[in-house]
Amino acid sequence: MSKVTVKDLDVKGKHVIVRVDFNVPHKNGVITDDNRVRAALPTINYLTEHGAKVLLLSHLGKVKTEEDKAKNDMSIVADCLAKLQSAPVKFVNATRGEELEAAVKAQEDGSIVLMQNTRYEKGESKNDPELGAYWASLGDLFVEDAFGSVHRAHASTAGIASHLPSALGFLVEKEVNVLGKALNNPERPLVAILGGAKVSDKIAVIENLLKIADKVIIGGGMAYTFSKAQGGEIGTSLLEADRIELAKEFLAKGEGKLYLPVDSVVANDFSNPTEIKVVKAGEIPEGFMGLDIGPETIELFKKQLEGAKTVFWNGPMGVFEDPRFAKGTIEICKALAELDGATTIIGGGDSASAAKNLGFAEKFSHISTGGGASLEFMEGKELPGITVIPEK
Ligand code: 3PG
Repeated sequence: MSKVTVKDLDVKGKHVIVRVDFNVPHKNGVITDDNRVRAALPTINYLTEHGAKVLLLSHLGKVKTEEDKAKNDMSIVADCLAKLQSAPVKFVNATRGEELEAAVKAQEDGSIVLMQNTRYEKGESKNDPELGAYWASLGDLFVEDAFGSVHRAHASTAGIASHLPSALGFLVEKEVNVLGKALNNPERPLVAILGGAKVSDKIAVIENLLKIADKVIIGGGMAYTFSKAQGGEIGTSLLEADRIELAKEFLAKGEGKLYLPVDSVVANDFSNPTEIKVVKAGEIPEGFMGLDIGPETIELFKKQLEGAKTVFWNGPMGVFEDPRFAKGTIEICKALAELDGATTIIGGGDSASAAKNLGFAEKFSHISTGGGASLEFMEGKELPGITVIPEK
């Protein structure tokens, strides 16, 4: 695939609408992780340095009520953006209308306007054609640089592009190249490590990776549904009873390449455990729940990673937010960080936060900025925000 990229556009003096993913975590008006803003800078800087008039669009949070609006005011990102780069930034507290149009019209070459949260508009998530056409009327060109949102067919991610010459920004281009290589033409062996709570969230990705990966390692809460499917005792561990049959199917399809935990760290209570111990997989006593992979599993999984040339990891191995159940995730993270000569990719979301919080971020080849988007990409799905960008 060779999509048009921002470098193929003549941007000087043009109004360029850029869909960025500024959906940053924040608390009491303070951004707690500005990584997504930083990740958008290469495209923003390229455009301002090449004399474009940049209009940035992004959503922030889920917006259903007036209270959600107040909680997810994009102005906090304007301050952050102004500090991270040198072009002037004007924040417009509107998503349509005179104030926005006047601000865009008044722009000098190399300046930035950041619009209020796209989700203030009801039509955004429905990909309302009128809204997509209206936003498109504010620019000459469109750049898709919101990888975290390309799996959404929304007015700002997929609607605008059908009205304007459009291109991928550097962030999306890099994500597509790295994930695309892992998916379509990986250096082998390709090992996938999948964790997280639910099988139901990962069905499509397990299915696809069982086809293309050389090994698929499963940890986290969803491993207990697999254990149950094998006839194991799982105590009060997380179970998706309606996915047991599916887990059986995966076990049959994955024979010889699917690796599951052989032991677990279990506790008698989730938030206030008074007894924590290690037991064999499938032998979890009544009243106990599995909250992390055990030491033998860590060794087994590490062994399967030896010699891997490409690794894709999505989802923690246990309840890593609690230090008592973080060892499995930490050890897998360490093992990946120490892998020699391998391309190591972390899907966004919890595993990306785990790698960052544990101080391993620099050790990975690629940490995706998209949680849902990177998963859907690895499922082999078409992503609407990428599909709309033309091929060269
Ligand atoms: C994300 O955080 O994964 C993206 O910004 C998409 O957000 P959404 O799940 O609210 O669409």
